Amino acid sequence: MTGQGGSSEPGMSVTGSYAPGSSKPGSYAPGSGDQRSSAPAILVDDLRKDFGDHQVLRGVDFTVGRGEIFALLGSNGAGKTTTINICATLLKADSGRVEVCGHDVVTEAAKVRQSISLTGQFAAVDDMLTGRENLVLIAKLRRVPNPSGTADALLARFGLVDAGDRRASTYSGGMTRRLDIAMSLVGSPEVIFLDEPTTGLDPEARIEVWRSVQELAAGGTTILLTTQYLEEAEHLADRIAILHEGVIIACGTMDELKQLFPPAEVEYVEKQPSLEDIFLAITAKEATK
Ligand SMILES: Nc1ncnc2c1ncn2[C@@H]1O[C@H](COP(=O)(O)OP(=O)(O)OP(=O)(O)O)[C@@H](O)[C@H]1O
Ligand SMILES: [Mg+2]
Repeated sequence: MTGQGGSSEPGMSVTGSYAPGSSKPGSYAPGSGDQRSSAPAILVDDLRKDFGDHQVLRGVDFTVGRGEIFALLGSNGAGKTTTINICATLLKADSGRVEVCGHDVVTEAAKVRQSISLTGQFAAVDDMLTGRENLVLIAKLRRVPNPSGTADALLARFGLVDAGDRRASTYSGGMTRRLDIAMSLVGSPEVIFLDEPTTGLDPEARIEVWRSVQELAAGGTTILLTTQYLEEAEHLADRIAILHEGVIIACGTMDELKQLFPPAEVEYVEKQPSLEDIFLAITAKEATK
């Protein structure tokens, strides 16, 4: 299986019955189909995972509502990829319960795989193929009708039409990441896991990826992303969970997280542009010349 989170599984991204935004996290008991459709998109309950004597996850709890963008924030080695891999059925937990769209990741792994896609931390793009060939390959593996039309639509959506017939080995990092995300959309999965989608990208490419993520969520897709960039979580996520030393130490909207800190003291500070502001202003000027 590649980092594409099971793209080799036929039908992995076939969309099931689903009402975008119909339910936000709340009380829920697993059971019948009706209960499933009102279940949170992702439920993680007391998740534990050790590697040898290293306790990586020590009781992780969170829920992600349908259509929500949820950011899992944590430093290197915090366990973000481990959590995502367990949710995506790529790794077995030691204990705890994880459900995706109401399906248990252990006992109903096939059903979970049908509703998700995973864009791994490292791109799953085949460098030897063109962008279009990569998309057609995934569409065929997922048994999507009209693989060629699906590829064309995704190339257009991600601004890759001109590059579509070039080998992916000639793409920039941002283009590769966009192609990687486009590949994860084949078959319109209900839930998308994005493991550090913008690591290594320049500010413009990062903003492009952010825009794609926001468009997906606006269309009703649930997105769980991991990041080490605080401003990425702040900019993108409806809710943010901070994973630290194996547990979620804070979880909520940005406003809720801000309330965890003492009220800010008002002081006069001259606002200086950040390096990112300067970079974006200069490169935008160059582009309009
Ligand atoms: N297969 C494995 N065998 C042994 N240890 C592992 C394995 N996978 C992960 N780990 C360890 O578990 C811890 C968490 O790793 P994980 O990849 O989940 O962190 P992360 O939060 O995604 O970090 P990063 O920000 O660097 O991607 C790390 O200490 C890592 O070395
Ligand atoms: Mg990781």
